[in-house]
Amino acid sequence: MSAQRHTHILPAIIIAFCAITCSSEDKEPVLKEVFSQHFLIGAALSDDVVKNEQGQDAAIVLRHCNTITAENVMKWVRIHPSWDTYVFEPADRFVAFGQQHNMVIIGHTLVWHDQTDNAAFVDAQGKLLNRDAMLARLKDHISTVVGRYKGKVKGWDVVNEALTDEGPLRTSLWVQTIGEDFVAKAFEYAHEADPDAELYYNDFSLDKPAKRDAAVQLVKDLQTRGLRIDGVGIQGHWGMDYPTTENLEAFITAVGALGVKVLVTEMDVDILPPAWDYQGADINARAELRDELNPYPGGLPDSMQTVLANRYAELFSILVKHSAIVDRVTLWGVTDRTSWLNDWPIIGRTSYPLLFDREYKAKPAFRAVVNTATAGR
Ligand code: XIL
Repeated sequence: MSAQRHTHILPAIIIAFCAITCSSEDKEPVLKEVFSQHFLIGAALSDDVVKNEQGQDAAIVLRHCNTITAENVMKWVRIHPSWDTYVFEPADRFVAFGQQHNMVIIGHTLVWHDQTDNAAFVDAQGKLLNRDAMLARLKDHISTVVGRYKGKVKGWDVVNEALTDEGPLRTSLWVQTIGEDFVAKAFEYAHEADPDAELYYNDFSLDKPAKRDAAVQLVKDLQTRGLRIDGVGIQGHWGMDYPTTENLEAFITAVGALGVKVLVTEMDVDILPPAWDYQGADINARAELRDELNPYPGGLPDSMQTVLANRYAELFSILVKHSAIVDRVTLWGVTDRTSWLNDWPIIGRTSYPLLFDREYKAKPAFRAVVNTATAGR
């Protein structure tokens, strides 16, 4: 080859080389690869994200996640809005998205006291259903929903938030109609509808000892009845000072001792000033907007980015340490822009709880989380 041809080819090679290296250097590491030896990494998807498959949210999910959870579209009120009507289109779209991209699809949630129309519990005259009638309705719901996505949804949050923070079951309409074994019945029906699906109990504040112990009892009760349960989901709507690392580790260890997995199902870390001393995630809890509770409407200062990054690192270090038990970490949303915490427990705050900011950029917390995968190696 002549020297002249070399001079023509060389710039092209340099440009091509730069295109490859520059683009990979510009991009942040891929979370699902970083944690491939530890746990699955996921995000909760709204219907908007699913519908906008070419959008920037979907791009983050497709790059970083190997599992997705339905943020809302599989909840009773959405998929089964009246006792004789099912609306499957958004949930079908969510499942198709996951299948198309070979992701582990998680169904959230079959049985909950919230986001379930009260009409689900009454007859045509408005009278509370008796046990048998409500069991029939529960079975219809579970067999219809789980049956439709059989072999496609890998695992279900079968029951969500059945426990009070003090331990005993909530006296929800589930308990009032069916009785305390509504939990066992839900697991029984879910297993019948898809014997291969993993089944989970999901709740918040499970780091609190009384609630942790109650969840352990709940799992033991299911196991004693010979029912399938694969894991306990700790939602992970966490703050700067809760859970304590000790309580989080104690929870993981207690669940591991039962022979089932821990799933962190709804992680986000709230750096805004708390509206009160409540530390749970009850979606009905509401507070008034006051300026001092919304201190960063124009952006999170660098110093606070660092505080958030350190807290994320602290929490992830524990999850990595216990990755033999922790099977999945799902973040509750994709970017700060659309996190539910912009409107809960106070409507209209500017919240910063996730790993990607409002411009779809990885935050310092992202880098801090990545570092936990390799620390100590
Ligand atoms: C939230 C959603 O993110 C919101 O969009 C919706 O308005 C209310 O519910 N615990 C759960 C989730 O189990 O289903 C909740 O999701 C957050 C608290």
